[in-house]
Amino acid sequence: MPDVVLQARGLTKAFAAPAGPLPVLTDVSLEIFAGDSVSIRGSSGSGKTTLLQLLGGLDQPDSGEVLILAPDTSLVAPHSSLGRGVGFVFQNYQLMPELTALENVALAARIAGVPSEAATAEARSLLTQVGLGARLEHLPSKLSGGECQRVAIARALVNRPSVILADEPTGNLDERTGAEIMDLLLGVVAERGAALILVTHSREFAERATRRFVLSGGVLTPA
Ligand SMILES: Nc1ncnc2c1ncn2[C@@H]1O[C@H](COP(=O)(O)OP(=O)(O)OP(=O)(O)O)[C@@H](O)[C@H]1O
Ligand SMILES: [Mg+2]
Repeated sequence: MPDVVLQARGLTKAFAAPAGPLPVLTDVSLEIFAGDSVSIRGSSGSGKTTLLQLLGGLDQPDSGEVLILAPDTSLVAPHSSLGRGVGFVFQNYQLMPELTALENVALAARIAGVPSEAATAEARSLLTQVGLGARLEHLPSKLSGGECQRVAIARALVNRPSVILADEPTGNLDERTGAEIMDLLLGVVAERGAALILVTHSREFAERATRRFVLSGGVLTPA
């Protein structure tokens, strides 16, 4: 039985609205194992981004709990994992515009406490692995969308997280580039033994995950 790398139990979340609390997630539970790939589909506004933010510790549930596998191999709350339990990949890349590709990736390692030289070496190696060895000094504004997403994937992997959370990572890309990014994401995640939680509107990409879910009416169900 593979190790559990993420455990979410009974997640409930509502947002305040003038007419009263707006329920978004109702009792969502999910268990992710090492090497798992899981896709989540759902219509716009169904709460997919909200769920990923709870899983990654960027937001807190109203009730329920999330535990992720930290570098010392124990299950802890996301905010206690020193930023190394999960890696995020976003639809709009979220790169720092004034930093080069190399600096963007190295910064994520520096924030997690890796010394400068080692951070740069690891960033260079990962960027080469994602096909950007000749673009290390490019600013994001000088990279194509697909290249920006490759940088973001390298950044998400740099601290060797046990889980990658990808929120519509191909949403801004043309069909062919999107397919290339999916190949890359599935490939590097598998190679590093990380698990992947992929939010996507694409049925085709969702089917490439080993387990598939749909989020609807605040409830997560197997597809
Ligand atoms: N910070 C917030 N404050 C209030 N309401 C919010 C907040 N964040 C999200 N919501 C609401 O929660 C619901 C779910 O939003 P969420 O962004 O999780 O949807 P989504 O499934 O990711 O949609 P999309 O496919 O368009 O990205 C929406 O109705 C949204 O308006
Ligand atoms: Mg979203």
